Amino acid sequence: MIRTPLTRWFDLTTPVIGAPMAGVSGGALAAAVSRAGGLGMIGVSGSHPAAFVTEQCAIPAADLLPFGVGLMAWVLDDRPDLLEATVAAQPGLVSVSFGDPGPYVGPLHDAGIAVAAQVNTADDVHRAVDAGVDVLVAQGSEAGGHTGQRATLPLLQEVLTLTDRPVVAAGGIATGRGMAAALVAGAAGVWIGTPLLSCPEGSTPLPPGRGCALPTARTPSSPGRSTSPRASPGPSAGPAVRWPTSSAVRGTAARRSSGRTPRPRDASSRPGGATTWSRRRSTPGNRSRS
Ligand SMILES: Cc1cc2nc3c(=O)[nH]c(=O)nc-3n(C[C@H](O)[C@H](O)[C@H](O)COP(=O)(O)O)c2cc1C
Repeated sequence: MIRTPLTRWFDLTTPVIGAPMAGVSGGALAAAVSRAGGLGMIGVSGSHPAAFVTEQCAIPAADLLPFGVGLMAWVLDDRPDLLEATVAAQPGLVSVSFGDPGPYVGPLHDAGIAVAAQVNTADDVHRAVDAGVDVLVAQGSEAGGHTGQRATLPLLQEVLTLTDRPVVAAGGIATGRGMAAALVAGAAGVWIGTPLLSCPEGSTPLPPGRGCALPTARTPSSPGRSTSPRASPGPSAGPAVRWPTSSAVRGTAARRSSGRTPRPRDASSRPGGATTWSRRRSTPGNRSRS
């Protein structure tokens, strides 16, 4: 098992976020990702009714699985109903990408929901940090969907110099090797879209024979997720990061992600005040795996 600030925060057993992909990642795919130990996200576009958000979020929620919702800033400007439905569904994480997340961070934090934003440039990073975004997703030009002009690794390195908040790498990461490279480079996790297109749980699965990136469903004895994920905490991985200053967000993120009430894990996760995650020296050799 690899532990990073992302896995600790959302109570995951693998530092993988299933990217929101409108038209592909509904509740079933999000649930499959979360069942495998990551955090599955539901993609929402401007053509979706608010009822879609409610219905799809109910799928992972029914199994007490963590889930997130991916919204687009330029859509929300004209569709406040999508934000309202998202808040009502109580996801652990909401991404507001492709535009200014500023107007939406406050309402989401007020509801105790952590906020992510995909960033493609240094200006995007400054805007997201100023807005109070909790998780930055360095989305390189290798990514599917809307992207910027910078490749993932160069962008990731720059973003890490611009913020102490957790940074997740997106774009062209499709294997464990790719994930390891991103983590060693300083990412707190990976945000994977295209490799999940072949999953039968997606809305547009590829033809049979094209393998799905997900492992088989998590069971109590599967490697996907242990029944006691904090029983033997491993050393930290990822950069020193600052998590949400709102104790409400900190408290609810883990609770929503796990379906359980969180308990304090270490000094850095105690409620109250800004938190800096101090990182032990992170090398491939001192990460605990199971
Ligand atoms: C088919 C497809 C649809 C996508 N739709 C969305 C979306 O609705 N909202 C969003 O924030 N990102 C969307 N993305 C971008 C992903 O969130 C993510 O950045 C990207 O998939 C990561 O790169 P990868 O595809 O190489 O894994 C989409 C990506 C793909 C491939």
